[in-house]
Amino acid sequence: MNEGFRAACVIGWPAGHSRSPLIHNYWIKRHGLTAEYRREAVPPEEFAAFIASWSERGYVGANVTLPHKEAALALSQPDDRAKAVGAANTLWLEGGALRSTNTDVEGFTENLDAAAPGWDRGLADAIVLGAGGAARAVVYALLQHGAERVHVANRTFEKAEAFRARFGERVHPLHWGEVNARLAGAQLLANATSLGMTGQPELDINVSELPPRAVVIDIVYVPLETPLLAAARKRGLRTADGLGMLLHQAVRGFSLWFGVRPEVTAELRDLVEADLKAGATVEK
Ligand code: ATR
Repeated sequence: MNEGFRAACVIGWPAGHSRSPLIHNYWIKRHGLTAEYRREAVPPEEFAAFIASWSERGYVGANVTLPHKEAALALSQPDDRAKAVGAANTLWLEGGALRSTNTDVEGFTENLDAAAPGWDRGLADAIVLGAGGAARAVVYALLQHGAERVHVANRTFEKAEAFRARFGERVHPLHWGEVNARLAGAQLLANATSLGMTGQPELDINVSELPPRAVVIDIVYVPLETPLLAAARKRGLRTADGLGMLLHQAVRGFSLWFGVRPEVTAELRDLVEADLKAGATVEK
């Protein structure tokens, strides 16, 4: 499989806290590839020039993180996912063209497939907390998986309303204060806000209102077990955590750049978990 050296990177500003190098270099080693995954700290004003000349540096692809996700979309030929979400987090070269996608979409669903198989069977009502970039990927993923109604609750209600305009009438905007009253009818609750993250306020959600078969997923992974997930587990509900989503979203980029589909193994999870515990960097 080793047809010469290939490199990929994560481009951010800053880029220092990204766990992507740990994940991809683990897979590179596991598959015995002649390749390397690096960090590239690139300021916004230099992003376009960096992308234009990256193949000269040996790059075949990249992950893109804050604040470049919208610029990456604008500078590339995006697939349907990146277009729908309005942000690209993965770039690759295809027949001379710069292509992009948003792998948070499948990161969300494949994490659920692994942690709570059957989560999307007969999915009528899902509640999504948050209306930022991460929530756009989550809502799009739920709609793609056939959710009949996705209730989007956000502190700033207008942003939840904008989701209905963007994604259509299966989206139902909710006022933040209406969430607890809606929980009894929900089969899935997803936190796509930064609440519950280390250093942020906790979510004020009463999981005891959820039906027993509901699934709870949090995109926050610092701490690994957020207060929301802890409460859901205590109640006996199925859960999926933010680290699982981070690991699953990385799979497609690696496949596109290096031609091998890697696996999210327990060993990889342990490795990233240990790094998170050691660093305890605040990141979503
Ligand atoms: P990302 O791209 O990671 O989703 P973002 O676009 O900044 O980040 O979105 C952050 C989300 O967390 C938003 O839904 C935000 O709500 P607002 O749109 O009202 O800002 C939500 N959020 C952050 N802090 C919050 C808080 N203290 N209470 C309620 N929601 C909060």
